[in-house]
Amino acid sequence: PSVSARKGSLFHFGSTHDIFAPAAEADWTSDKFWNVWNHIVAENGCKWYDTEPEPFVSNLTDCKGVQQYAIDHGCTFRGHNTFWHSQTPAWLPGNVSASDLVNKVIPNHVETEISGLGSYVTSWDVTNELIGDSTTMGMDAWECVESADRWPTVTVDGGSTPLVTNLSFAYAAWSTALKYDPGKLVYNDYSTGATNNSKTECVFKLITDLHENAGIPYSRMGVGHQSHVGAMPGYFVPKDQLETTFQRLADMGVDALITEMDMWIPSNTTAALRYQAAIWGDYIDACLYSSNCHEFINWDNRDDTSWITPGPGHGVAMPTLFDANGNPKPVYYEVLARFQRY
Ligand code: G3I
Repeated sequence: PSVSARKGSLFHFGSTHDIFAPAAEADWTSDKFWNVWNHIVAENGCKWYDTEPEPFVSNLTDCKGVQQYAIDHGCTFRGHNTFWHSQTPAWLPGNVSASDLVNKVIPNHVETEISGLGSYVTSWDVTNELIGDSTTMGMDAWECVESADRWPTVTVDGGSTPLVTNLSFAYAAWSTALKYDPGKLVYNDYSTGATNNSKTECVFKLITDLHENAGIPYSRMGVGHQSHVGAMPGYFVPKDQLETTFQRLADMGVDALITEMDMWIPSNTTAALRYQAAIWGDYIDACLYSSNCHEFINWDNRDDTSWITPGPGHGVAMPTLFDANGNPKPVYYEVLARFQRY
């Protein structure tokens, strides 16, 4: 696709598209999809609940289906995700001891999924959203994770004892991924990228910890900035801050990725649609002009199938490049223009 050839190599400009759920996204013929994007991510099809429905029984059908769709069209695929606190299989919580989780369940899952998908993957989200929303400056990596009230409180037998009390579960995922994944290993999270920001600092603490204690080379790592944002000041990360954070990662040898971009707007007005276009364009530029940013993914491909719906906190939604009829919005043309200008 012409929009995304750059930097003398392939730039991965993608979108989610769960092709195994055609009813929801029926309008996207392959011609239409691959004319806009050259890269694809399964919105849900590679998550733990879908890929390991029973303990130690792997089912990679949906995940591989999306990968095959990319292969069939000469395009690329990224993996989201091996490991997240949400959309875990029903059998997991309450039925697994801490030592089994760290020594058997996580390594088996990560190995099976990553080796099952093989080398035709640009990058894998090895761990997704480990860090909490109530971080403060100066927390160490474990405190950042502990503040999330997620994995640490997955309890044994529904009791109140936290299942994990240190980062060994994350080390298990990452060191397994390192063995089987030929591509980049990504830490993926939302509300990251701003400078002088405790969650961004936690990301740096975590990747440094994974490097030092799990032996993950920085050259194999990436940080995925999900970028679920809003087209209002204060609800997105300004371009200069994104660039500063990306450069800080580049200085360590770590990639930066925009992994789940969507942007709600406060009202359905020309002004709001233009503002959405301008800010989205800045995210594109921040990635394009950073030496370590090679993947930019849109989360959902048209407004009516997005997980962002109108309501408090999300305005009138309309968070993607294409409207509810599948027609390109001002933001789509702005993205095109930014690629052409590059
Ligand atoms: O699979 C069932 C289906 O059987 C049932 O008929 C249907 C009825 O609602 O629900 C289906 O499950 C839904 C699932 O998506 C698959 O479509 C869940 O209800 C729904 O909650 C789930 O939402 C996904 C969400 O993650 C879960 O937290 C969204 O589609 C997906 O866009 C969203 O993606 C996440 C990223 O993975 C991580 N970052 C944040 C991002 C947005 O929340």
